[in-house]
Amino acid sequence: MQPPMAAAFLSLLLIVLLVPATMAFNITTILKKHPEFSSFNKYLTDTRLASEINRRQTITVLALDNSAMSSLVSKGFTLPTLRNVLSLHVLVDYYGAKKLHQLTDGTTVTSSLFQSTGDAAGDAGYVNITDMHAGKVGFAPADSGEPKSFFVKAVEEMPYNISILHISKVLDSEQAEAPTPEPSKLNLTSLLYDKGCKEFSRLLTSTGADKIFQENIESGLTVFCVGDSAVKAFMPKFKNLTEGNQTSLILYHGVPVYNSMGMLKSSNGIMNTLATEGSKKKYDFTVQNHGEKVSLKTKIVTAKVTGTLVDKDPLAVFKLDKILMPRELFKPSAAPAPAPTPEADAPSPDVADGPASDYDEDDDEVADQTAKKKNAGGRINGGGLFAVGLTLCYFMVAAL
Ligand SMILES: *[C@@H]1O[C@H](CO)[C@@H](O)[C@H](O)[C@H]1NC(C)=O
Ligand SMILES: *[C@@H]1O[C@H](CO)[C@@H](O)[C@H](O)[C@H]1NC(C)=O
Ligand SMILES: *[C@@H]1O[C@H](CO)[C@@H](O)[C@H](O)[C@H]1NC(C)=O
Ligand SMILES: *[C@@H]1O[C@H](CO)[C@@H](O)[C@H](O)[C@H]1NC(C)=O
Ligand SMILES: *[C@@H]1O[C@H](CO)[C@@H](O)[C@H](O)[C@H]1NC(C)=O
Ligand SMILES: *[C@@H]1O[C@H](CO)[C@@H](O)[C@H](O)[C@H]1NC(C)=O
Repeated sequence: MQPPMAAAFLSLLLIVLLVPATMAFNITTILKKHPEFSSFNKYLTDTRLASEINRRQTITVLALDNSAMSSLVSKGFTLPTLRNVLSLHVLVDYYGAKKLHQLTDGTTVTSSLFQSTGDAAGDAGYVNITDMHAGKVGFAPADSGEPKSFFVKAVEEMPYNISILHISKVLDSEQAEAPTPEPSKLNLTSLLYDKGCKEFSRLLTSTGADKIFQENIESGLTVFCVGDSAVKAFMPKFKNLTEGNQTSLILYHGVPVYNSMGMLKSSNGIMNTLATEGSKKKYDFTVQNHGEKVSLKTKIVTAKVTGTLVDKDPLAVFKLDKILMPRELFKPSAAPAPAPTPEADAPSPDVADGPASDYDEDDDEVADQTAKKKNAGGRINGGGLFAVGLTLCYFMVAAL
């Protein structure tokens, strides 16, 4: 790795960390204006790479036209594999048409989103760009040989936020095309059962909520499961709820968006849950973090995240020390703090965590308005940013 590359990554890291998280573009909307990329556009949405792209501040998309896409799609890859292949076509740096012809020594290697998935080993997540003779610019995965795909034209350039470049062919990469396990084939209840949330897993099955959790995995899901002793201690209260409310309570422990640990740590805010969907009630909670510690706060209880069971897009499963009690189902006064459990951390000295002391309708209104704004604007921007930062830090350490 040459020093200029390290320097380039350092400056990119600084840009990434300093620019405030606002969404400056929407790749889906931009590509809609160009029907020759309609298939590419559709698959960016289906693989959820579109939202990943929109979260970034500085990005280059190597767009494949409909004929290049049809040869890719004809290979019959699963959606997760297709996501890997397409993520190799998203470069986490800005390359306008002009910059392609001004590369130092006529060649460079740049990092792609595939590099940040964790599925790419060695150089597989990097793309080699070479300015060849006669003004031809070639693209190839860094672990392959001579470029077989070439720059055709600039589709859209918004310096230095997003550049969309039409390239002639798919970047062929064995690693990106390697089979990835289908997340939807995962059995969530048995996973929870095996990883220390046995009782919680039983409740998922007995309430029928398991089907709704399972259906949501593919499009992104965060599950907050609860340790066995905490669930057992809660059972008298649980049995007191009607069947419908029992299901809502369990659904309240799922968020229909993938949130990595990094995203949770960098996002203080309100999250909707699976119980929110199809209900007139809010069923939301607040994520709070103090340094490395993440807590989920309802009007009734504050639960701590005590561990990570799974954290791989599109599914994350975290363990809590307490059942989350939504204010839609429990009254603050009727809810003394649940019995401490062996799994729980020592009681927090933080008075603000007290369950009954912080019930305040005004506070509620403000929080609800914030929630609406955040829902409109993409609340996980910070998380994406954090993830790029981490990836780049890792890369820099490797490079220096
Ligand atoms: C981007 O635009 C598409 C349609 O053009 C829309 O469905 C999608 O919600 C937009 N994404 C965001 C994050 O605003
Ligand atoms: C990119 O690939 C070309 C052709 O295989 C090679 O000559 C060049 O050195 C590579 N560039 C970098 C920066 O590794
Ligand atoms: C790039 O994004 C920033 C905010 O992130 C915005 O202020 C700027 O206008 C954008 N540039 C273009 C060309 O849209
Ligand atoms: C998960 O596994 C359990 C026990 O093996 C089984 O009863 C259940 O039907 C499975 N669920 C799915 C969605 O495959
Ligand atoms: C169950 O509900 C009744 C009636 O609302 C209440 O008096 C009782 O305290 C509840 N029991 C528990 C364990 O919450
Ligand atoms: C759920 O609980 C709320 C609050 O205790 C109660 O008002 C409501 O009737 C219950 N809903 C059902 C379907 O039992």
